[in-house]
Amino acid sequence: MSDLTEKSAILIVDDTPTNLEILFDFLADSGFTVLVAEDGESAIARAEYAPPDLILLDVLMPGIDGFETCRRLQANDLTKDIPIIFMTALSETVDKVKGLSLGAVDYITKPLQHEEVLARIELHLRIGKLTKTLQQQNLRLEVEISERTRVEEKLREQAALLDITTDAILVKDLDKRIRFWNKGAENLYGWKAIEAIGKNISQLLYRAETLSQLQNIQESLTECESWQGELTQVHKEGKEIIVASRWTLMRDQHGQPKSILTVNTDITEKKQLEAQFLRAQRLESIGTLAGGIAHDLNNILTPILTAAQLLQLKLPNTDERSQQMFQTIETNAKRGASLVKQVLQFARGVEGKRTVVQVSHLFSEIKQIVQETFPKSIEFSTNIKSDLWAIVGDATHLHQVLMNLVVNARDAMTSGGTLSICAENVFIDEHYARMNLEASVGPHIMISVADTGVGMPPEIVDRIFEPFFTTKDFGKGTGLGLSTVRGIIKSHGGFVNVYSKFGRGTEFKVFLPAVEVTATPLAENFELPTGNGELILVVDDEAPILETTKISLETYNYKVLTASDGIEGLAQYAQHKDEISVVLVDMMMPSLDGATTISALQKMNSRVLIIAVSGLVTSDKLAGTRGVKAFLSKPYTTKELLQALHNILYQKSKNPAIH
Ligand SMILES: Nc1ncnc2c1ncn2[C@@H]1O[C@H](COP(=O)(O)OP(=O)(O)OP(=O)(O)O)[C@@H](O)[C@H]1O
Ligand SMILES: [Mg+2]
Repeated sequence: MSDLTEKSAILIVDDTPTNLEILFDFLADSGFTVLVAEDGESAIARAEYAPPDLILLDVLMPGIDGFETCRRLQANDLTKDIPIIFMTALSETVDKVKGLSLGAVDYITKPLQHEEVLARIELHLRIGKLTKTLQQQNLRLEVEISERTRVEEKLREQAALLDITTDAILVKDLDKRIRFWNKGAENLYGWKAIEAIGKNISQLLYRAETLSQLQNIQESLTECESWQGELTQVHKEGKEIIVASRWTLMRDQHGQPKSILTVNTDITEKKQLEAQFLRAQRLESIGTLAGGIAHDLNNILTPILTAAQLLQLKLPNTDERSQQMFQTIETNAKRGASLVKQVLQFARGVEGKRTVVQVSHLFSEIKQIVQETFPKSIEFSTNIKSDLWAIVGDATHLHQVLMNLVVNARDAMTSGGTLSICAENVFIDEHYARMNLEASVGPHIMISVADTGVGMPPEIVDRIFEPFFTTKDFGKGTGLGLSTVRGIIKSHGGFVNVYSKFGRGTEFKVFLPAVEVTATPLAENFELPTGNGELILVVDDEAPILETTKISLETYNYKVLTASDGIEGLAQYAQHKDEISVVLVDMMMPSLDGATTISALQKMNSRVLIIAVSGLVTSDKLAGTRGVKAFLSKPYTTKELLQALHNILYQKSKNPAIH
């Protein structure tokens, strides 16, 4: 007796009691649970109530016959899967075929051979059971497949999300092998996923010097689960990238560390801007400090210079020794003034004389100096791209910029090397301008001065534009060279970049706004112009300046009124408004400053002619102030003062309508 037999229930449907009985006994003896029904309808009812494993169905019965019973059983969801075997006395092939076509699984012919009945029943039970198992498996598979499709869809959605983000998302196992690499990572690092997956991340993205830091982070993960901070990485093409990095440790279902999920955001641009900003700010504050000192020095030097010049005029017949001493005072005051001017060039930029400057002229002057004075071990080359645009600027200042740069290059190549200067047109676009705080969009001329000298480490590059920063021996360098360069470039609306590699060389790139002006430089003609007895009001809080300016002006046939501050100045003007031709106003005064004094003067007389004087503010800043006709920067020479006055008065008499 098999398992199958023991647990199976067989329903016999036959209207002949003897048949039923014999079959019942035989099957019960064989170990089946046997149920009986004497007609089709009760058979269906029983089968619906408790489906048997197999039905033996007689064909010829009163009421509904076996075929109809079979049809109804097949049509019923509750009973359609029960295997049916027909029992038929008929040996007609037609009936056998009909039974099978109605869905019966087999037939046996009466009189029944018990062995055959048993064999067929067991066969069909087995088939039935197998079918059922198969059906169940199918069902399970279908469920699994639809579940998997759902998961895959979700994964695809997530992968799409991972690819949309610009962040680099990557997964690496604990041996640092890359397991996952999204589109963001492809874009950020230049490596495609197929190139990256399976590679060791340390070799792909990091320089040797950062590896110990990485190891520390990875070790700390087992305790803290996550980490975030900044990392320096390398692009496929070798350039450095700075990222804000977030690491999370992933564990398997047993809680064991399995892999590390990393999300990296590119902050390279941000960091660069930050560094630029800090540097600019530092230079700005040093500039303010230096500017303050320079202002005081100007106030000291101006009277010395003026007095020295006047003394020479006043005492033309004095002895030679005294003449020499006057000369010495004048020369040294001038030297002091030019040093102060340099500091101011750095601090605020100094307005120079603007003409159209040809870069080729500048280059040929520099070339001559370099070839005549630099050691022969330094090879020199110049290169100017054709159709170079023009610069409007101060030729002397720009010459000084190039000189400072080539002298630095010479000093960096004590054992020889190559010095090359070249110029080309460059259009600064918005992207570039965004990356460089000092750059503005538009056409520029880029002048490059490159050497193959000692180069500089980054911490030196960081400070070279500070005034008085030098690495040269005492007495060899003042450290004002590059700060002057920067000041001049800035006052021309340009900017300067440095690229330096320690031990390899340095390149300075100077960018100057280019213009399409093709005017010829103005010829300058200096003769000391004298006055015609015009009354000049001089307002300055520094008594020595007031004094010397008064003497100078009177020497050259002007009349002078003085005021030692803004308030006194306004009072004087109110009193002598109609006689005063020009007012000279110092911009930096206590209590009432220059700008306020000027606007008060404006109110009294909208046509007032004013010369603004200061060591600090450039005429750029004053450009918007109405009525200011000229600007003098301290210390000024008598010549400059007279020239400024003459220009204003001459302009006035030539065209009185214009102020
Ligand atoms: N081409 C270069 N190669 C290497 N280092 C340089 C170069 N140019 C400038 N430097 C560094 O920058 C520092 C500052 O330069 P800067 O021209 O401002 O002053 P200086 O040359 O030292 O003195 P000064 O120019 O006033 O005589 C130098 O001392 C040097 O360390
Ligand atoms: Mg220098």
